[in-house]
Amino acid sequence: MDVIIDVKRHSYDDLLVLEDIKIQVREGEIVAVIGPSGCGKSTLLGIAGGILKPSEGKVFLEGNAPPDCLNPLTFIFQDFALLPWRTVEQNVGLPLEHHKLSTSDRQARIADALQRTGLSDFAKALPKQLSGGMRQRVGIARALVVKPAVLLMDEPLSALDAQTRDLLMEDFLDLLLHERMAGIYITHNFQEALRLADRVVVLSRRPGRIKEVLTIPIPQLERTNKAALAPLAELGDRLWSLIRDEASVADREVIHD
Ligand SMILES: Nc1ncnc2c1ncn2[C@@H]1O[C@H](COP(=O)(O)OP(=O)(O)OP(=O)(O)O)[C@@H](O)[C@H]1O
Ligand SMILES: [Mg+2]
Repeated sequence: MDVIIDVKRHSYDDLLVLEDIKIQVREGEIVAVIGPSGCGKSTLLGIAGGILKPSEGKVFLEGNAPPDCLNPLTFIFQDFALLPWRTVEQNVGLPLEHHKLSTSDRQARIADALQRTGLSDFAKALPKQLSGGMRQRVGIARALVVKPAVLLMDEPLSALDAQTRDLLMEDFLDLLLHERMAGIYITHNFQEALRLADRVVVLSRRPGRIKEVLTIPIPQLERTNKAALAPLAELGDRLWSLIRDEASVADREVIHD
């Protein structure tokens, strides 16, 4: 299933936040969106997921969702949003509560999501018994339990320490590369964007407009091989300079407001 975003404009009252954003994400493709704080990234993701209606514009879904998909679009946020009194499996099963399913189907989906995120041995644990990285895996499992076609990720790793982030990045790569999902990955971190994405969309400071789209020339399956990533150094420098320009102007504007 492909996602086609065509936002002419989005404002909150008088505040223009997004302008002329056209992004198409095809099935099996990951598009990272990067840009300065407050430029409208989370707003864009909310629009992509249908929880916000753009002031002017549309989002289309094209193609078929997987046969057992309960919800084509699903979100992964940075703050896990787990219910502390529920076990891992109960948290993962949360999105299924809105659906009429047999007990065996429900259990099979939860077991599958736990297995895909390496959590099978922690089904009965409570969130407080898990590390930050494990908790985020519960967040990922909860997204997978509906068998989504499109994963919408809002800085999913940014609350984690660098080492955990690196490990989870490997998990994300593995997950995204072996499933035919479309993914939109919002991040502040250009190294994450380069590692995970097929394309990186750089937004300008607010109102967010597309400043540049970079295509990552490394085939998805080679991205787990560190040696294949060498050509990314140059792209990383380019991306960094684009982001630095936008962020420094945005900072100066804040100071002079
Ligand atoms: N519900 C809302 N009502 C009014 N203004 C909002 C609302 N949500 C966001 N904004 C404003 O819109 C702008 C864009 O916000 P958004 O959260 O989309 O940016 P962002 O790029 O995700 O920022 P960050 O990098 O800090 O996560 C900001 O100036 C924010 O204050
Ligand atoms: Mg945000």
